[in-house]
Amino acid sequence: MQKILIQLDTDSNPSVFDRVVAIDAGADQLFSYGSIAPDHVTELVHGAIFTRGPADLKNTAIFIGGSSAAAGEALLKKVTGTFFGPLRVSVMMDSNGCNTTAAAAVALARRHHSLQGVQATVLGGTGPVGLRAAELLACEGAIVQLVSRSKERAEAACSEIRQRLPDAQLHSVGASADFNSVCAESEVVIAAGAAGICFLPEAALAALPGLRVAIDLNAVPPVGLADIGVSDKAQIRGETTCFGALGVGGLKMKVHRRAVAELFAANDVIMDTMAIYQLAREIADAVS
Ligand SMILES: NC(=O)c1ccc[n+]([C@@H]2O[C@H](COP(=O)([O-])OP(=O)(O)OC[C@H]3O[C@@H](n4cnc5c(N)ncnc54)[C@H](OP(=O)(O)O)[C@@H]3O)[C@@H](O)[C@H]2O)c1
Repeated sequence: MQKILIQLDTDSNPSVFDRVVAIDAGADQLFSYGSIAPDHVTELVHGAIFTRGPADLKNTAIFIGGSSAAAGEALLKKVTGTFFGPLRVSVMMDSNGCNTTAAAAVALARRHHSLQGVQATVLGGTGPVGLRAAELLACEGAIVQLVSRSKERAEAACSEIRQRLPDAQLHSVGASADFNSVCAESEVVIAAGAAGICFLPEAALAALPGLRVAIDLNAVPPVGLADIGVSDKAQIRGETTCFGALGVGGLKMKVHRRAVAELFAANDVIMDTMAIYQLAREIADAVS
């Protein structure tokens, strides 16, 4: 039986990136729908669950994407709320690569430095990637500073994470300059700012002697942490293990492909932030 992936994208043009990965991950057929809002979901999900018998439903799955993670989360909630009894299919949500990117970054950080009880900072922590990176770091037991230009936005992001992780050790920080001081006590820093936003200028890492892992997710010049090369992949600079955006991108792509492939293992797989992170950890830890 052919594997059908139903792509529900909140943007008008369903993501070409997600379409290519879907095919590379083993989908035989890709049904792509754009401009999808929660109101459209019931009919689309009914089309997915009422066609094949329960035993065959593992061959149908849904991928939720688009440029807005909030819109993607709303679709995920609506999709899973439409299932009942055995009439369900597996679902993955990765709007703008938010889950796969954050999962890859934190899995790499964890592989190179224990995260339990360490001070970690996420710069650009209010974006879809940064917020999820902060959540995953907190999940691993790190004491996380979530940084935004706005203290209020940082606090709102922390509150959102605490709804899912009530015991998370999170501190909201409002800062628009002097990020060296913000990161001074941190052993792990993840820069997840918007494309082209630089937080730490050249030679900044040398002034952070306690920093053990630094990850920059911004590939667009100027990069987010100027000392880190965009292709750095476990590059040692002083006492710090460094990853640039392309250095993280390799694992991110593996995680994305594996997560799509896993959807077809059963008809009740939910590939959300935590499930995607578990996969990223497995893949990162399997690399010798
Ligand atoms: N390597 C990969 O595989 C991969 C995959 C996907 C994404 N990415 C990259 O990951 C990064 C994060 O993605 P995203 O979608 O979460 O980013 P985003 O939403 O575009 O931006 C993240 C945060 O950056 C902050 N920001 C925006 N303009 C700023 C400025 N002028 N100065 C300081 N901070 C500013 C904003 O926070 P405040 O307004 O609250 O300050 C915003 O919430 C991006 O650079 C993206 O290109 C990498």
